[in-house]
This record gives sequence, structure tokens and C-alpha cells, in this order.
Amino acid sequence: MKDYQIKTVLSENRKSKPEADQLTFGKVYTDHMFIMDYTEGEGWHDPRIIPYQPISLDPASKVFHYGQTVFEGLKAYLSEDGQVYLFRPDRNFNRLNHSNSRLCIPHIDEELALEALKQLIIIDREWVPKAEGTSLYIRPFIISTEPNLGVAPSHNYQFIIILSPVGSYYKEGIHPVKIAVEQQYVRTVAGGTGEAKTGGNYASSLKAQEKADQIGYSQVLWLDGKENRYIEEVGSMNVFFKINGEVVTPELNGSILEGITRDSIIQLLKYWNVPVVERRISMDEIYEAYKAGLLEEAYGTGTAAVISPIGEFLWENEKLVINNGEIGKLTKELYDTLTGIQYGTKPDPFGWRVQLNQETKDMYSGSLS
Ligand code: COI
Repeated sequence: MKDYQIKTVLSENRKSKPEADQLTFGKVYTDHMFIMDYTEGEGWHDPRIIPYQPISLDPASKVFHYGQTVFEGLKAYLSEDGQVYLFRPDRNFNRLNHSNSRLCIPHIDEELALEALKQLIIIDREWVPKAEGTSLYIRPFIISTEPNLGVAPSHNYQFIIILSPVGSYYKEGIHPVKIAVEQQYVRTVAGGTGEAKTGGNYASSLKAQEKADQIGYSQVLWLDGKENRYIEEVGSMNVFFKINGEVVTPELNGSILEGITRDSIIQLLKYWNVPVVERRISMDEIYEAYKAGLLEEAYGTGTAAVISPIGEFLWENEKLVINNGEIGKLTKELYDTLTGIQYGTKPDPFGWRVQLNQETKDMYSGSLS
């Protein structure tokens, strides 16, 4: 890591904190944020933690017109004894740089980003919520700020990290969600930006999401953009199926997001000797397994969604109800184990948990409760 000095300006107007048991997803933000600039010729410079505030951008900034932007999502968890843990945060900053490569954005220093995040959370530690199922969602992102309407990579950027205390992503919480299989719109295609975490992928998903919402479904299941047959992912999650005792998930094919929760679940299943395969899966195959009574469980995985059981797929006007619309046994075990590792109530044989400074432990007593 280059020798950076992270300057800190503390807020003089601390906001009141929401009740932790009332939290939903992504609506409130903490007192501080991290920000750093990139200028061509100078590189990334001026890392600083400042009071949370609006940013001022030229209306011609490229991000507004051509969507040159990337983001990440990870969480900080408060344990019963007042420790704050991150979960595999190095993987998020590494993936941010993969997304940067795809979007022609200069790489960030991953070590600096992690150090900045730790310092930011220590300052806003009282915002890490305490109620069950809550956490501090972390949103690092980069935007292109050069005021220039030519379609070309920007010469200036800002890297920002904001923090938001959250509850469940879905209103259903750990109860199964209903998913509509999308047959008209596609999210992306191999060779597109599907593998990168960039705003455009989510913008292009909104129309299908709106359609699903109107008929009472929480999210859509995307099929491949070429043949409209093979399963890719769900709106904000990777997807897994348990078919006749074996867990299958779509293989990474260039258009699917390489989920960190996805990878953790595959590693956990292998550790438990549960058969798990990454391969191409068609919706026809899922339908046949369903008809044969072999589709035992389905669930999505993601940082925001954690592990979200799927109780029903809507496919060609037919409702495929899985496990009577209830959470499956394996899904529940995965949820309990993963969240146990994240919150420090279960052993972490993989070394995934990263503890914030030991010496800050006593300072967490004022957390949201
Ligand atoms: C996450 O799981 O952190 C995501 O990035 C999903 C988000 C779009 C809500």
C-alpha cells in the first residue's frame, strides 16, 4: 500500500439513530463517509473521512450520461459481546477492481480501501445495529466525474464509501420469496457487463422487476440473453436449487455476477460433503425436476439478501410451489451457519471473519439497540 494519510473531519451534528427493530433496507445513512479523488496524471489522492453530505458534480459529469460507475455491497456485523466483524471484505475490493477493469476505471489500492473502511466504521461504530437480523450495510462506489460529453473513459473519478444500518432486504425476511421467471427482457449477455457490478445492469433490470411487482412477485429470475433458456441469476442474488439431493447453481459464464456469498455457500456445502455442482441449468430441467417431485429446495444468495428461500417460481403461467412454500432444511442450515459465522456465534473454519480493532471493543457499548 502506498503511504497514504487518511484525513478525518468529524461531524458536529450527529443524527438521531433509527430504532434497530424498525430498520428496512438502504434508507438511512450514518454520520460520516469516505471519499477520495482520482485525477489523471496524479492518480488516486486525498483520501478523507468527512461528515456525510451531498456531493456537488458538474451536470456534464460522465457518470450522468454514460453510466461509467461501479459499486460493491458488504456488511459489518455486531456480535453479542460487542465485537464488530466484516465478512471477507478483501473479496469485495478485489471484485471492485475487476468491475473497474471492465468499465475502464483506474484500479483502487485494495489495502487502502479496506483500511479506510475500517477507520470509517470505527468512527460510526454506534450505527452498527444490534437487533437480530440487522447489520451495517456498506456501499463502496466509484463515479466518473469529468465534465465531458464525449463517449470515452473519464479522466477524473471519485471513490466513496457510505454506510447504512439495515434490516432484511426483502419484506419477507427469512420467509420464502416468490419469483417470476422473466421471458421477455434480459439482464445482460456473455461479453456484456453482467459480470461487473455496475449501475447499468440494475437499470436494465427495472422494467422486468416492475412487471413482476405488479403481479405480486418479489423479484425476477433471469434467463440467458441468447436462447432465453438457461438460468442466470435472480434480481439481486445468485440462485441455487436442490434437486434429488444434489445442489446445483449456474456456472459462472461471463454474464453472471461472481457472488461472494455464492462462493461461501459452495465452500460450505463442500465442507459438509453435500454434493454441489456448478453447471448450465435450463428452466426446462427445473420444470421437469419439479414435475417429477425432485425439486426439493431453492434459494438465492447475496450480501443484501443473505440466503433467501424461494417458495414459488412463476413459469409460463404455472406456479411451481417448492417445499409447500416453506424454507427447506438445507436452506435453513446454510442460513444459520453463514449468519453464525458472520455474527461470531459459530466457528469460522475458513477464516472469513475480519474483526475490527480489538482495542475498540469497549467503545461499542453505545450501539443501536
Ligand atoms: C448486494 O447484495 O450487496 C447487492 O449488491 C445487491 C444490491 C443491488 C441490493
